[in-house]
Amino acid sequence: MSDDLRDWEFVCTEAELLPGEKKTVWHGDTPILVVNLDGDYYAVEDQCTHEDFELSAGPVDQETGLIECVFHGAKFDLRTGAATCPPAYTPVATFPVKVVDGALWTRDNR
Ligand code: FES
Repeated sequence: MSDDLRDWEFVCTEAELLPGEKKTVWHGDTPILVVNLDGDYYAVEDQCTHEDFELSAGPVDQETGLIECVFHGAKFDLRTGAATCPPAYTPVATFPVKVVDGALWTRDNR
């Protein structure tokens, strides 16, 4: 592994995350949800900011880029982390996604 991937977490290959698909990996104690939105990759913390519940259980709207928390219906913009629908008001953390030789990598860079 090259030095510039040392602090990154391997997600999967690009072929394993097609448009509309999502996958969660752990980087340390942080669950990171990586989503393919129409060919672009985004990563957010896989935890609703309303209560402790995983966002990955919810549906992704490819048109709007929103993911819905199935617990109480809050929605978050996967591109910015913004909370767009109550009962969540705090944005979810966003993380970088890097593509190296056809593989996706992410990390908690906070
Ligand atoms: S836990 Fe997500 S909306 Fe309540």
